[in-house]
Amino acid sequence: MVYIAPAGIVLCGCVADGDSTRDGPKRANVGLFAFLWDEIASSLGNGGEMLVLLNSGYEEMSREAARIVAGTVRSKPNATLGLATGSTTVGMYKELARLHQEQGLDFSKVITFNLDEYLGLAAEHPQSFHCFMRENFFTHVNVASKNIHIPDGTIGGDYEEYCAAYERAIREAGGIDLQILGIGRNGHIGFNEPTSSFGSRTRLKVLTNETIEDNRKFFGAGEEMPQCAITMGIGTILEAKRILLLATGAAKAETVAEAIEGPITASVTASCLQLHPDVTFVIDEAAGARLKQRDYYRRVMEMTARFTPNRLS
Ligand code: GLP
Repeated sequence: MVYIAPAGIVLCGCVADGDSTRDGPKRANVGLFAFLWDEIASSLGNGGEMLVLLNSGYEEMSREAARIVAGTVRSKPNATLGLATGSTTVGMYKELARLHQEQGLDFSKVITFNLDEYLGLAAEHPQSFHCFMRENFFTHVNVASKNIHIPDGTIGGDYEEYCAAYERAIREAGGIDLQILGIGRNGHIGFNEPTSSFGSRTRLKVLTNETIEDNRKFFGAGEEMPQCAITMGIGTILEAKRILLLATGAAKAETVAEAIEGPITASVTASCLQLHPDVTFVIDEAAGARLKQRDYYRRVMEMTARFTPNRLS
């Protein structure tokens, strides 16, 4: 299927139906194309496009990401933040905690929704994303506990109903203002593994062997690895008003290049971000090493700082 948008943008429809969504794949895709059409049309009006901010290393990347999150919270104290876990995000959370403690950055009205949680892990489990968020962020800042949402890894039974309620809660909070993402080595965002439908919503997802192996290092020797997770869908993520993707280190270079400069494909789910009108990739030199257009991104950064600095705040 080929869609030709007003400005001559050609979208080759290769949306995978590997996922079952509550509405069924067919309806999800019709809705998806309507959504993409609206997004593209509105981005043509406001000049929105992908920004790639290249930083010297992990520390600078973390400060830059925290600066953008802090900017969102300062301009909208009751902002809804979509939060991610993973070692990449630790430095950003540390810097946000510093900004809270030293400069009074106020999270008291902020609402948060985490992307995902391992199925089978209770909130107290040391490798759960609940625990990660407590240790790295929530115990250091003043987000009200009633405003924190993280999928429950211990639910059993009606997963569809639980996931639909998570989606409803996001909508009732007014949608996500800023979604933070890391990226898996296979290009996943959240736990949207390769072949996830671009129309997918929050759901139960089976993890790939690659992801299980990558994350095994966090679990004790002999400890059983979760095989599944509850994750927000690609459709959920694409509805965020603004998206920030962080990546660090040479191990991510190939997948970062595929996500930013490769074809839009469900085989690298982060490539869906090319369709969103307001995405900022905050990456370090090592993660950006395979990008062909590095020099161009640097010039765009300079010109954006000069002409439209609000896009960097
Ligand atoms: C997990 C999470 C992702 C995260 C990824 C990368 O798979 N579900 O949200 O982006 O890990 O983790 P790391 O930053 O440790 O490489």
